[in-house]
Amino acid sequence: MENFVFQSPTKIIFGKGVETEVGQEVKKYANRVLLHYGGGSIKKYGLYQKVIKSLKDAHVDVVELSGVKPNPRLSLVKQGIKICKEQDIEFILAVGGGSVIDSAKAISAGVFYDGDVWDFYTGKSQVTQALPVGVVLTIPAAGSEASKGSVITNQDGGYKRSVNCDLLRPKFAIMNPELTFTLPKHQTIYGISDIMAHIMERYFTNVESVDLTDKLCEATLRAVINNAQSVLKNPRDYNARAEIMWASTIAHNDLLSTGRVGDWASHAMQHELGGIYDVAHGAGLSVVFPAWMKYVYRNNLNRFAQFAVKVWGVEPDFNDLEKVSLMGIKRTEEFFDKIGLPTRLKDLGIGEDRLEEMAEKCTQAGPIGNFKKLYKQDVINIYKLAL
Ligand code: NZQ
Ligand code: ZN
Repeated sequence: MENFVFQSPTKIIFGKGVETEVGQEVKKYANRVLLHYGGGSIKKYGLYQKVIKSLKDAHVDVVELSGVKPNPRLSLVKQGIKICKEQDIEFILAVGGGSVIDSAKAISAGVFYDGDVWDFYTGKSQVTQALPVGVVLTIPAAGSEASKGSVITNQDGGYKRSVNCDLLRPKFAIMNPELTFTLPKHQTIYGISDIMAHIMERYFTNVESVDLTDKLCEATLRAVINNAQSVLKNPRDYNARAEIMWASTIAHNDLLSTGRVGDWASHAMQHELGGIYDVAHGAGLSVVFPAWMKYVYRNNLNRFAQFAVKVWGVEPDFNDLEKVSLMGIKRTEEFFDKIGLPTRLKDLGIGEDRLEEMAEKCTQAGPIGNFKKLYKQDVINIYKLAL
């Protein structure tokens, strides 16, 4: 096991009706907030009205910025920074999913920086100060509600890039699984794909003796797989929605990274699909991840065989680890397929024409991945396997 520091300070307020507590939570930090949200689902389903009432009851002044799109845009982040500076905003409340939260985090860091906020995403500059951010989560997926990451798309050049900094972890996340009953099926399954990917990025490591986190990863994956079927059968199944919502946080608040080194190449390859083709994050991951698995599994057959046996219940066979490993990959792909996720680039309307460009951008700063280092040609090969 590797040395580690684990600090995941986000306060989680979880369960039925908890969104009414948002005003009193915000009030602990500020009297004046920027309420940041997306394209309108929160108004359509009545959450906006509840949040406004709770903030009003707590005597918090509200300035609004809506319009966050999936694959959140740098241009709106810049608008948010301007508003915060001009209107003395003390706190940013993100009501929505990963895109809204990431946009809020970007604004929170940009407020204290005189240069271009994109510098944080290119590595040109480091975040040293940020406004506090709070969350009312409406979709379990990205795990941004308790993560240190923010992922933003710069349409100038089609770049989707991330920054990671502990200062960006939200102060609190209000999580009512009932708010996710209204998710369309495609958003539910994209979320499931992202949650599973966050666990698998951590699971596929070459670090030895990480038994506890192996078992936590395996159990969380099995819980997501089992409850996914229940949610798809009955989208209003509170307990199944609750299991998946809690898994989204556990998958990405870094508990499952403790003592191990994650891979993250599949996320890097998916970000190129998001940046160029505006593909939904979970949809890109369910295409890229199985292709990555097929390309790298021989690098550590023991780990892939363990994944097959412990997560998918494949029959162990110590004389043929390759067969067992391949069965685990097949079961992963079949599961994605069964719940309606895309598993091929052509399902996303993507052909061969820009594979080289994506591979070039993805490896510009050097090889990606830790389980197996991947260079430009490897990335092209993986995209080709995904065709
Ligand atoms: O915009 P509105 O109208 O609100 O609709 C949203 C949006 O269209 C809709 N939606 C959300 N909650 C709903 C709902 N519709 C009905 N009922 C509800 N309760 O869902 C759509 C997608 O929302 P989005 O926020 O984009 O989804 P998600 O949470 O999957 O976030 C994806 C983004 O997070 C980034 C991804 O790259 C992507 O940009 N990630 C962020 C990470 C982080 N910060 O740690 C890590 C992840 O790996 C990921 O990269
Ligand atoms: Zn992700």
